[in-house]
Amino acid sequence: MPEARPAGTFLLLEWLLLLILASSSPPPDPIKCSPGTGKCTITNIYGTFPDRSICGAAAAVYPTSEQELVEAVAKATAGKRKMKVATRYSSSIPKLACPGGDDGLIVSTRYLNGIVSTEVSRMRITVESGVTLEELIKVAAKAGLALPYAPYWWGVTVGGMLSTGAHGSSLRGKGSAVHEYVVGLRLVTPASASEGYAKIRELDVGDPDLDAAKVSLGVLGVISQVTLALQPLFKRSITFLKGDDSDLASMAVTLGDQHEFADMSWYPGHGKVIYRIDDRVPSKLPGNGLNDFVGFRSTATLLLGINRLAEETLEATGNADGKCTDSKLTTTTIAIDNYGFTNDGVWFRGYPVVGFQNRLQSSGSCLDGPEDDLLTACPWDPRVKGEFFHQTTFSIGLSKAKDFILDVQKLRDLNPKALCGVELYNGILMRFVKASSAYLGKQEDSLDFDVTYYRSHDPMAPRLHEDLLEEIEQMGLFKYGGLPHWGKNRNIAFDGVIDKYAKGREFLRIKRLYDPDGLFSSQWTDQVLGVNGTTSIIKKGCALEGLCICSEDIHCAPEKGYFCRPGKVYKDARVCTKN
Ligand SMILES: Cc1cc2nc3c(=O)[nH]c(=O)nc-3n(C[C@H](O)[C@H](O)[C@H](O)COP(=O)(O)OP(=O)(O)OC[C@H]3O[C@@H](n4cnc5c(N)ncnc54)[C@H](O)[C@@H]3O)c2cc1C
Ligand SMILES: *[C@@H]1O[C@H](CO)[C@@H](O)[C@H](O)[C@H]1NC(C)=O
Repeated sequence: MPEARPAGTFLLLEWLLLLILASSSPPPDPIKCSPGTGKCTITNIYGTFPDRSICGAAAAVYPTSEQELVEAVAKATAGKRKMKVATRYSSSIPKLACPGGDDGLIVSTRYLNGIVSTEVSRMRITVESGVTLEELIKVAAKAGLALPYAPYWWGVTVGGMLSTGAHGSSLRGKGSAVHEYVVGLRLVTPASASEGYAKIRELDVGDPDLDAAKVSLGVLGVISQVTLALQPLFKRSITFLKGDDSDLASMAVTLGDQHEFADMSWYPGHGKVIYRIDDRVPSKLPGNGLNDFVGFRSTATLLLGINRLAEETLEATGNADGKCTDSKLTTTTIAIDNYGFTNDGVWFRGYPVVGFQNRLQSSGSCLDGPEDDLLTACPWDPRVKGEFFHQTTFSIGLSKAKDFILDVQKLRDLNPKALCGVELYNGILMRFVKASSAYLGKQEDSLDFDVTYYRSHDPMAPRLHEDLLEEIEQMGLFKYGGLPHWGKNRNIAFDGVIDKYAKGREFLRIKRLYDPDGLFSSQWTDQVLGVNGTTSIIKKGCALEGLCICSEDIHCAPEKGYFCRPGKVYKDARVCTKN
């Protein structure tokens, strides 16, 4: 254990006191414009894209109504200028937010965030696309309604969730992806001069184009408004059960049938799993539980810095044991904190936590509260020394998920300590997502694996035991044909990805129809959609960052002892292994 830790614990107490006085620093605006030239840059919530570049744009506009949005799109179309929608926090990891070239236009939905209508009797809500999940949940609940499934982080917008296929965890109804609940959508696309260079396309249930627009990576135009089918507000009952991972492979596949909101957090280094037993219950059951997930809370930046330093030190000294020790500590701490769940919004007295859907489904309290000069921040806030990580996220068909888990366990058994690193990021999160009619949606009922792990601030610095995570990444994506989450992942996940979608070509047909000049496309989306080039970037050290799969030692870090070698369980993998 690093010496830094006891000091951290001591400081934590002091900082907890300070926390009572100071609240959070909300995340910075991902768009920065120079007052002089008007030129802008855009990045994501983490302040860094997978290739560490910064994207430029000639200008940014902030429409406040559909009318202003149409005008902005028309003007850019008339000038044949590239465009891209950007959101309040820009939560996606890949370069989705970048307009093509450096002279494009950023269309921000920050102020396109009104509630258009709430139809209680029809259980529908219509919102502008920049409304955040947080607001959607709160407004719906006031009307006695609920979005049944959603991502766990509520800093995302409705437009962004649809564009990336964002989801929670469920196999019930239409499943956990938000786009499954879209019953209508208004999309502003480029148009001919005679049509005034922009037009509004109204897509309703039954319109086949809705299957393209529901998950669109933002390349079809700007989603202006979305109508979602909701449900009467309901209660849930949640219990976290800790178990051994020896029967995880078989448990994992059936858990989704047994519990409506089930998920799993897998701690492979310690061979443990936390099963989330989570079901809908009658509203008369007492309980006013609240989810304020610890990982999405404002955290003292001093503590974030201490934790990061500890992790960096373990990396630098090659101390995998230390990671396992620290993982145990972190897990115990957050388990004591019950991951941020309380029975009444204040205290945790025991499981089950029973409460209303709107108070349990998502969280993100680090977004709220006044500026406090970064005394506290979201744990990954790029302005402070804190969390910095890669995220590899893919969905594997339920029929194959069992074998994938068994393969990962085989790999783990070769060197259990090597996988403690992911435990410092709450383990491998496993969630259920159902097959979708969306052209870029899930092709079959799937188990989604979310793997978060250390990223160095130095792109040329290899990670401790990175070969194992690279093998898991390639195994999931290629051996088991996993579909990458559009809003997460490193470049290699998207190479040739479009071929995994039966209706991929159909999606491209609609794209050409709606945006013939590709004004909403960028180099990144062209690469992802297989229209022009590939997402891999081949250069020295590229495999260290997931920009390529190594084929030569130079793609790893031979001077630091990391060479390109076959995988240990999945022999077709090529990974950077320390000799
Ligand atoms: C802390 C954290 C936790 C997360 N947890 C989850 C989770 O539990 N489940 C999950 O599935 N994902 C999760 N994600 C990923 C996240 O859901 C996706 O990255 C996300 O949906 C992005 O939403 P956004 O509003 O930030 O959009 P952005 O990332 O800003 O944009 C994504 C894409 O959508 C396009 N776009 C946005 N709005 C519009 C619009 N109105 N019209 C046209 N195109 C548009 C953008 O141009 C861009 O191409 C998490 C992310 C973070 C940072
Ligand atoms: C393909 O991509 C390259 C590199 O970004 C670019 O120079 C070229 O113009 C693109 N071609 C087309 C047809 O878009």
